[in-house]
Amino acid sequence: TVHSFQEHFDSKIDREVSIEPRDWMPDDYRKTLIRQISQHAHSEIIGMLPEGNWITRAPSLRRKAVLLAKVQDEAGHGLYLYSAAETLGITRDQMYDQLHSGKAKYSSIFNYPTLSWADMGAIGWLVDGAAIMNQVPLCRTSYGPYARAMVRVCKEESFHQRQGFEIMLSLSRGTEAQRKMAQEAFDRWWWPSLMMFGPPDAESPNTEQSVRWRIKRFTNDELRQKFVDVTTEQAKVLGLEMPDKDIKWNEERGHYDFGKIDWNEFWNVVKGNGPCNKQRIDARRNAWENGQWVRDAALAHAAKRKARTGE
Ligand code: ACO
Repeated sequence: TVHSFQEHFDSKIDREVSIEPRDWMPDDYRKTLIRQISQHAHSEIIGMLPEGNWITRAPSLRRKAVLLAKVQDEAGHGLYLYSAAETLGITRDQMYDQLHSGKAKYSSIFNYPTLSWADMGAIGWLVDGAAIMNQVPLCRTSYGPYARAMVRVCKEESFHQRQGFEIMLSLSRGTEAQRKMAQEAFDRWWWPSLMMFGPPDAESPNTEQSVRWRIKRFTNDELRQKFVDVTTEQAKVLGLEMPDKDIKWNEERGHYDFGKIDWNEFWNVVKGNGPCNKQRIDARRNAWENGQWVRDAALAHAAKRKARTGE
């Protein structure tokens, strides 16, 4: 009966036994996972665009090779995540359709423009830094295929964060113009990076249930605080100024206090009105449409082969 299925499921969650594709699971658990994993996959794929913008303009062959590898990694992350979502009963075509029609959400952060080379540093340091903070705990998320995908994703993500920090370090130790460029990128990416963790817990409709199901292992505010604490120390190493005048160590809490986040800006971007939302979706749609002939050719080839060999 559903009752005993439910008990079995609950007991697995309590004992930290992972839930696998063929196991019984509550409909809402499945729906929440499809929502989160598909949004995560879309974020990886859309996330290739802001950095892809700088591949042809990287300042050296070494920087170019590293950036290319990084952007390719993001494509790989998107593909593992689409595969993980498919195990829950949604097809890739359905997910692409949700993305291309503008129905799907993806991370707000990728709707901001990349204006200078220093943005490649700031994105690696802050955006990938925030992504790791959020994703390392997801290696222990309750759904097996998602957790296993995260293990590899996090290894690569950690390389991305280091390459970004290293760009920032070079710039901050470089000429005055380079140091300024690094500071300016830091100023622009700081607040949007804090928004990546999602709305405050009190306004996050999904957190409570997702934490209970052990899909999320920490709340949005908990992860955001960890990120502020770690990044503020890293900014000191870079010798850059925090873009927040209110940032201050709080001895009692053992954490940094920080300024107010502009949640209007966040919701505006999530609703599709950020600086680059339209450009990002257009780029994906064009890539999909322009690739139609490749899909047609692959299908035609497979059909001919089948007719010839019966395979
Ligand atoms: N950008 C866009 N939408 C967001 C963001 C964000 N930064 N944060 C939250 N939202 C959306 C949620 O998707 C949710 O929308 P929905 O209910 O219509 O699906 C709504 O705002 C309310 O938020 P929450 O209730 O807090 O949603 P949730 O519990 O899913 O938490 C979070 C959001 C923290 C992003 C979670 O989904 C998560 O951990 N996802 C996996 C990591 C991820 O997707 N990272 C992508 C960026 S990192 C990268 O790609 C390099």
